[in-house]
Amino acid sequence: MKNNYLKKLTLFIASVSFLFITNAFAQHEARIVINADLGEHQISRHIYGHFSEHLGRCIYGGYWVGEDSGIPNTRGIRDDVVEALKATNIPNLRWPGGCFADEYHWMDGIGPREDRPTMINTHWGGVTEDNSFGTHEFLDLCEQLGTEPVIVGNVGSGTVEELSNWVEYVNFDGVSPMADLRRENGREDPWGVVYWGIGNENWGCGGYMTPEYYSMLYRNYATYARNYGDTHLRKIAGGANASDYNWTAVLMREIPHWMMWGLSLHHYTVNWADMGPATGFSEYRYFDKISRCYDIEDVIKRHITIMDRYDPEKRVALVVDEWGAWYRVEPGTNPRFLYQQNSLRDAFVAGISLNYFNEMGDRIRMANIAQTVNVLQALILTEDEKMIMTPTYHIFEMYKGHHDATSLPLHLETGNYEYEGNSVPALSASASKKDGSILLSVVNVDPRQESELLVDLRGQDISNYSSRILTADELDAHNTFDNPDEVVPREFNSGRIRNNELRVTIPAKSVVVFEIN
Ligand code: AHR
Repeated sequence: MKNNYLKKLTLFIASVSFLFITNAFAQHEARIVINADLGEHQISRHIYGHFSEHLGRCIYGGYWVGEDSGIPNTRGIRDDVVEALKATNIPNLRWPGGCFADEYHWMDGIGPREDRPTMINTHWGGVTEDNSFGTHEFLDLCEQLGTEPVIVGNVGSGTVEELSNWVEYVNFDGVSPMADLRRENGREDPWGVVYWGIGNENWGCGGYMTPEYYSMLYRNYATYARNYGDTHLRKIAGGANASDYNWTAVLMREIPHWMMWGLSLHHYTVNWADMGPATGFSEYRYFDKISRCYDIEDVIKRHITIMDRYDPEKRVALVVDEWGAWYRVEPGTNPRFLYQQNSLRDAFVAGISLNYFNEMGDRIRMANIAQTVNVLQALILTEDEKMIMTPTYHIFEMYKGHHDATSLPLHLETGNYEYEGNSVPALSASASKKDGSILLSVVNVDPRQESELLVDLRGQDISNYSSRILTADELDAHNTFDNPDEVVPREFNSGRIRNNELRVTIPAKSVVVFEIN
């Protein structure tokens, strides 16, 4: 009897300790093989581009406070926001929309501000737009940021002549009605804007068109958007919504490749039927968001397959000019202003998406996160004179070494993050090489299990490396105006090198970026 009791007790203790040990040391095994001497395409820095629309507090309040504001500014543009974005080497900025682009008439936004007419921003809350931020202000912003402008023209409610005049106003150096008007408005030299979107979401808010109809309009609008001097335009056709593959097929068939530098695609990580909150979410919602984020790979692959059929030489770029996570707005804010918090989960959405864009960089040559300030998956949030950087901001800053680097072929073996019978890869990774140094970015989405990673680097000796990590105790950890440094990157002194292999533990729910020399 006593023996029996002891046996049961021993069994009980053994199983409890097993559970304890497996939980305490729960980890995946993972392996990454990088061929450092087999560089593939160049990762265009434009994959790290941005999108800012006349929507909510993105332009007004986010960038533009006006010259008389008490908030430090240069010609009306916030200095803190410019400084923060410059630190990410922001490569381009897409403007003025979005849906707003197809109801925007650029001539209302030039000349003395007090004389500019107002309009109603019908898409975004029906607020009155006073046009105080127009072409000159936008291009001044781009010059302050040291970034390339991407201007989206109005196809939905504009005219061919209106777009043609805008290009002439912005780019022509000689004597002409539009160039003279620009000079009258205080700008002698043309800006030389290369990237022009020809409409936005013309299957929806940009005119509810069929792809056949839009293709013909594109050809017409694009014809009269002229090159002036050395400025050779790179025109971007308004592309498909997520999995509308027919849109891509028709445009690729109907628009000659030489008329179209890029074809756009919009892909939001969202469940439209149940968007969920930006913070305070359950693991169910977390898993759902991460698996939807992984879906971008499949959707993009299918669009690329279609593009490859019509353009095997990859002359036309795929431009993912709106992407990011979309949630319910913050309680108490205008539902049409799309203001949402941004947590560690969003850092993973950014990290996974950018890893994938890096990998597919032979076709994806531009992407623009939606949107830079105060809207959707923002890098920056502002409240009057206060400004914070979000976890998404930190990913863009940590990944900036990938800009214009050579993408390296990477083989990844990873365990899975399992949730209620479903699973996604625990790790996502990409690698690139620039000036002899290798950047490896790794995301571990598993909220509980760390990953014991072996990096097998071939074709280059590892002499040293440094790394930084972005992580937090909670998946919905985020920065606030009272606590702006809750989620910030930190030095990550971990791992060891042996036989040109790096062995390192990637903590649960983290993003780690290695610079290997
Ligand atoms: O980014 C917000 C909106 O989403 C854009 O205006 C539109 O293009 C898309 O539907």
